[in-house]
Amino acid sequence: MAAAPKTVSILGSTGSVGQNTVDLIAAYPQRYKVVALTAQNNVTLLAAQAKKLNAGLAVIGNPDLYADLKAALAGTPTEVSAGPDALIDAASRPADWIMSAIVGIAGLRPTLTAIGQGGTVALANKESLVCAGPLMMAAVARHGTTLLPVDSEHNAVFQVLDPRQKTAISRIILTASGGPFLRHTLAELAAVTPAEALKHPTWSMGAKISIDSATMMNKALEVIEAMYLFDLPMHKIDVRIHPQSLVHAMVEYIDGSILTQMAAADMRTPIAHTLAWPERLATTGQRFDLNQNIHIDFEMPDLKRFQALELVRSIENDETGMAIALNAANEVAVAQFLAGKRHFDQIVPLVRSVMTMWPEISPGAMPATIDDVFTYDGIARALAESQGSA
Ligand SMILES: NC(=O)c1ccc[n+]([C@@H]2O[C@H](COP(=O)([O-])OP(=O)(O)OC[C@H]3O[C@@H](n4cnc5c(N)ncnc54)[C@H](OP(=O)(O)O)[C@@H]3O)[C@@H](O)[C@H]2O)c1
Repeated sequence: MAAAPKTVSILGSTGSVGQNTVDLIAAYPQRYKVVALTAQNNVTLLAAQAKKLNAGLAVIGNPDLYADLKAALAGTPTEVSAGPDALIDAASRPADWIMSAIVGIAGLRPTLTAIGQGGTVALANKESLVCAGPLMMAAVARHGTTLLPVDSEHNAVFQVLDPRQKTAISRIILTASGGPFLRHTLAELAAVTPAEALKHPTWSMGAKISIDSATMMNKALEVIEAMYLFDLPMHKIDVRIHPQSLVHAMVEYIDGSILTQMAAADMRTPIAHTLAWPERLATTGQRFDLNQNIHIDFEMPDLKRFQALELVRSIENDETGMAIALNAANEVAVAQFLAGKRHFDQIVPLVRSVMTMWPEISPGAMPATIDDVFTYDGIARALAESQGSA
C-alpha cells in the first residue's frame, strides 16, 4: 500500500524560497498534500500556486486584498482568508512539515505558531531566530519540534555536524560569496544603486536578503542564527569569503579534520533536503559539475569594507536584546535604501548607531516573551527612523 502523503504548508509561498518550495512539491503530487499557502500582497501568484497544488487554504496577509483573492479562487475548493490572524491560523493548521519563508520579523509569530505544532519546521526566516533565538529554541524543545535549517550554510552544517562529537568541534565556518561588491573600494560602495545591489553574482533571492548579502549583514545575521541553531558560542563561528558559492559551510574538529557540504548555488538543494529529511529527494536543480576544472578560493573577509561582520561580534555576551536592535535597524535601513532614501554605504552605519545607543534605551534585560520582542523591535525601529535618511 502506498504511504499516505506528507501534509505540508508554505508560509511565504510567493517569495523566492517559497516559489522554489512550490516547484519541488509540484514535482511530487502523490507524495505531498498541501494544507496552506500564504503571501502578503501577491494575489495573482498565490492563487496560481493554490490551483496548481490544490491547496486547502490560501491566506493573503494584506486584509484589503481579501476580495481579490476570493475572486481569483472562485470555483475552486481552496478556502480563502486574509489578515494577520489568518496567517497565524494557516500556521496552526495541522501539517507534518511547514516551510517558514516569510521575510523579516513579520515571520516570527507564524513561525512560532508552526513550531507549536510539534512537527517539522523548515526555517528560512532567519530574522525570527535572530530576534527571538532563546525563546524559539525553548519552544522547539518544549514541543519536541524538528527544526531544520534552510539557509544553505546552516543546512550544510546540519548535514556534516555530528551531534555526538559536539565537544570536539573547534569551530564552524560559514562561507560568503561576498556579494556583488566584493572588490569595490569604499568610494565605489558609496555610489552603488539598488538595481546594482539586487544583482547577486551567484544566488537568485528576494530583495531584502539580496541587499543584506551585498552589505554582508546577511552573514552577520547568519552568525547569530548559527549560534542558536547549533548551540555554539559566537567565537566558534567564523566566516570566510568563497566567491564560487560551492562550499556552503565547514565544520572543523579538534583533530584538524574539516568536513564540508558542497553543491551548486541552488536553493532547491537545501529545501529538498529539509522536505525529505531524513530521506533524500531527487531534484532537477543545478549540479556541481566536477567534469570541468574548478577553482575553490577562500579569503579572509575585509572588515573595513564589510563592517557588519565585526559589528555582530558585540552580540556574543549581550543581555539587553541587542540582536533585535541590529535586526530592526537593518530592516529600516534596507527599506530606506530600496526606496532611494539612504545611500548603500549608510546602511550598516545606521545599524551601528542604533546598536551604540541601545544600552541606554533598552528595557534592560533579554526579552522574556514574544510580546517583549515586538516591544524591543518597536523601540529600535523608532530610534532608527528618528535618525533620518542619509
Ligand atoms: N531567497 C533565498 O535564497 C534565501 C536563502 C536563505 C534564506 N532566506 C531567508 O528566507 C526568508 C525569505 O526570503 P525570500 O528571499 O524568499 O524573500 P521574498 O522573496 O521577499 O519573499 C518573502 C515572502 O514573504 C511574504 N511576506 C512579505 N512580507 C510579509 C509580511 N509582512 N507578512 C507576511 N508575509 C510577508 C511575501 O509575500 P508577497 O510575495 O505577497 O510580498 C513572500 O511570500 C528571509 O528571511 C531570507 O533571509 C532566503
